[in-house]
Amino acid sequence: MVEKKKITAAITGVAGYVPDYILTNAELEQKINTTDEWIRSRTGIKERHILKGEGLGTSDMGYKAVQLLLEKTNTSPSEIDFLVCATTTPDMQFPATATIICHKTGIVNAASFDLAAACSGFLYALTTAAQFIKTGASKKAIVVGADKMSSIIDYTDRTTCVLFGDGAAAVLLEASVDDENGIVDSILRSDGIGIPYLHMKGGGSVKPASAATIAAKDHYIFQDGQPVFRFAVKKMADVSAEIMEKHHLTGEDVAWLVPHQANKRIIDATARRMGLSTDKVMLNIEKYGNTTAATIPLCLWDWEQQLRKGDKIILAAFGGGFTWGALYLKWAYDTPQQT
Ligand code: UT7
Repeated sequence: MVEKKKITAAITGVAGYVPDYILTNAELEQKINTTDEWIRSRTGIKERHILKGEGLGTSDMGYKAVQLLLEKTNTSPSEIDFLVCATTTPDMQFPATATIICHKTGIVNAASFDLAAACSGFLYALTTAAQFIKTGASKKAIVVGADKMSSIIDYTDRTTCVLFGDGAAAVLLEASVDDENGIVDSILRSDGIGIPYLHMKGGGSVKPASAATIAAKDHYIFQDGQPVFRFAVKKMADVSAEIMEKHHLTGEDVAWLVPHQANKRIIDATARRMGLSTDKVMLNIEKYGNTTAATIPLCLWDWEQQLRKGDKIILAAFGGGFTWGALYLKWAYDTPQQT
């Protein structure tokens, strides 16, 4: 009897891009009624990157991340057969930002589409791409998380404008045969109970853009922070604990937690629940703010040099919808140390 080979989907490279312009808490202090102290103590954020320039959108950041990813993994654009872009701020309603990224990068042989799951988008997209790899439908897939949050922020609303930043990052996903390293499992959840607390009213089919929607500021993020905070603390911690229990993992076993970066206090609560020491938690919210779908891959990009083959890693996210989830993977490669 021929034994069937087990295919695992493994991340084999990561790259990111953040725009040059840095919007500091000090600059925000000049523009709105806020303080560096309030922002840092309530969220952990010190600065965020903002994409400036006429005609530039989410795909321009996603394209730069994908270009770098292809270069550093010595991958030809023609080898990519699947590209999914998680985003809440697509370049346009259609075509998909994923397709625009493919076009800019010279990827012409790939299925490409966007995935909307707000701040949990990268987890949902990574899970989706992993299924295509595992079934053999895709050999080399790219998962992008990219958002130009500054395009939907009201910079007179102090309750939201201090939180978000722009950025993009991407991972290469490949089949690894009879090697247990790769994506092991994920748990994805959603509950529309969150719709009133975090949404954008205008620009969709319910309220297409009009002079009235612009006057009502319907094209900006609306967030009622406290209910979102309470739900996020509970659900992100619950789902992270659930995936650990399912796989019999203790805090000792887990090498890294890669949490969505919305608020340092939510991250701390999740790490406590998982029994993880703070040195195992990836935290870069202070320099990027909340980049929505890009937060988790930007962490992987920042920490890539420290990751070792076989490291047990939990990714966890929470966002609009509500959507949330956790993903368990075993890191698949050692990165050569940079000299
Ligand atoms: O990634 C998607 C999911 N989103 C999240 O996970 C975000 C979840 N929510 C949060 O992280 C927090 O709720 C926020 C950071 C958004 C707000 O923190 P908070 O501790 O919940 O503050 P709050 O909304 O209860 O506001 C406390 C006070 C209020 O003043 P009063 O009513 O007590 O006088 C706000 O008006 O802080 C005030 N405030 C500010 N003060 C200075 C709100 N924003 C600011 C600001 N600067 N930027």
